[in-house]
Amino acid sequence: MYIYDEYDQKIVNERVSQFRDQTQRYLDGKLTEEQFLPLRLQNGLYVQRYAPMLRVAVPYGLLSSEQARKLGHIARTYDKGYAHISTRTNVQFNWPELAAVPDILAELASVQMHAIQTSGNCIRNTTTDQFAGVVPNELVDPRPYCEIIRQWSTFHPEFAFLPRKFKIAVNSHESDDRAATLLHDIGIKIVRNEQGELGYAFYVGGGLGRTPIVASLVKEFVAEKDLLTYLDAVLRVYNLHGRRDNKYKARIKILVKALGVDAFRDKVDAEWQHLKGGPGTLTQEELERVKGHFTAPNYETLDENTELQKQLSENKAFANWYNRNVNEHKVKGYAIVTLTLKKLGVPPGDITDRQFDSVADLADKYSFGEIRNTHEQNMVLADVKQDDLFELWQQAKELGFATPNLGLLTDMICCPGGDFCALANAKSIPVAEALQAKFDDLDYLHDLGDLDLNISGCMNACGHHHIGHIGILGVDKKGEEFYQVSLGGSSGPDASVGKILGPSFAREEMPDVIEKVLSVYVRNRIEGERFIDTYRRIGHSPFKEFVYAKSH
Ligand code: HEM
Ligand code: SF4
Repeated sequence: MYIYDEYDQKIVNERVSQFRDQTQRYLDGKLTEEQFLPLRLQNGLYVQRYAPMLRVAVPYGLLSSEQARKLGHIARTYDKGYAHISTRTNVQFNWPELAAVPDILAELASVQMHAIQTSGNCIRNTTTDQFAGVVPNELVDPRPYCEIIRQWSTFHPEFAFLPRKFKIAVNSHESDDRAATLLHDIGIKIVRNEQGELGYAFYVGGGLGRTPIVASLVKEFVAEKDLLTYLDAVLRVYNLHGRRDNKYKARIKILVKALGVDAFRDKVDAEWQHLKGGPGTLTQEELERVKGHFTAPNYETLDENTELQKQLSENKAFANWYNRNVNEHKVKGYAIVTLTLKKLGVPPGDITDRQFDSVADLADKYSFGEIRNTHEQNMVLADVKQDDLFELWQQAKELGFATPNLGLLTDMICCPGGDFCALANAKSIPVAEALQAKFDDLDYLHDLGDLDLNISGCMNACGHHHIGHIGILGVDKKGEEFYQVSLGGSSGPDASVGKILGPSFAREEMPDVIEKVLSVYVRNRIEGERFIDTYRRIGHSPFKEFVYAKSH
């Protein structure tokens, strides 16, 4: 992983002492609320319903075991013993004391972490595939490109006050997309052109929130060396033409829509003419320098494990977990393991201080000391020997990490909703819990197969409800909490925005409503067909008719 040099460390340390001074002046009444606001936002600090919320950057989701232990220590010492993995692979603390935040930032700096640019109208953490560098059929490891973007965007003076926040994701897999790339302000897909040269397809203007839009292809091929100059051009056009008069119309997706993709592309190209070939051009030397931080660990030469087949045939629970939570690794004898944070009764994505310590121990023992956060709010050990899988599974089970539900109905994305968030229309966690309780039969869940169910407490869509195969949105109806259901969303390479089923429901109705939706799928599916494919084949009406039928 990327290791700070002396300049990086110096910058981060200086930021800590600067913010310590700013916080002190605010607490002493020398800075007003209004003056303090931009200063705290630049350091990831939101003021929430009950306490400040501190968002810590985890570049493209990658953590060392040392960093994970530090996060556990912070959760224990400065918070209520837990933290939250966000859908953009960051870590959030929900209950820090404002006065303690500079100390937390100092703790983070000691392990090469910070909260810079995790809020405010700037370029946020760049995300990517959690299986980067280890999954078969990847064009190249996308992480060096994310790191290059991180270094370019951090403290970029021109883009510190954009019309609105800005999110970039990079994907390099030929057929899968685990980073919801097309729902980002810029989604970069690493590709090769007909001559076999490496480059990027640029998709711009995706996003969720109150206007969900799938990004449009703006440039089919930008050469590898032109990554930053083209990014600069897109950001310049946005910075200049994006709306600043209306917060709800300020994201780049609105600009792309207003101008039309062709006119937007022309503006970017015109801007790019000034930048292309200039100092922002990546040299081979720079590419190699960054790539040098992402070399493969010391893999052993292993044979495929025969013992594993025996363990799988003898132990159904292990086989269930293996089938859902273990993925193929590109190196023979190794496997990718996803540890789930979706245990019954626990808000999706929450992780305790002890779990941070445990995941760090597991990473040290089984996976070269590295961990990755996923956008579905789980954690990955990317380099586990097949020989160790059975032992790891037993330990992960003890620790509450091995619910074998990855990609199933109960592996939900869910925002904090009305329990924690001041913007919520409705609570979301109790809905997630009611669904987890109702659908806790693993055989049934496995039979249903791949299913994304996402819940947001309001139209800001932090819980990605638009791109769930089933989406649930909290709405306010005359002061009461109701829930709207949408179907057909997807975040993969075939990304789509879900369609609203009809009038909303009371919270107690939700488990039955979802059960009805599922029953339509089960009745209509053909052998091996996923929920989303059945929905796309048979359309909206059968679901709508059945759910809203007077009686059954
Ligand atoms: C509890 C405090 C939170 C508040 C006040 C909050 C507020 C917001 C707001 C206002 C937006 C919409 C911005 C826009 O469209 O321009 C937003 C978007 C988003 N939030 Fe949150 N959020 C909170 C927590 C979270 C958490 C815990 C997560 C992770 C699960 C999260 C993930 C996201 C994501 C991924 C988006 C982007 C949707 C998009 O693509 O536009 N948020 N949030
Ligand atoms: S979706 Fe709404 S309720 Fe949920 S965290 Fe975001 S702003 Fe809050």
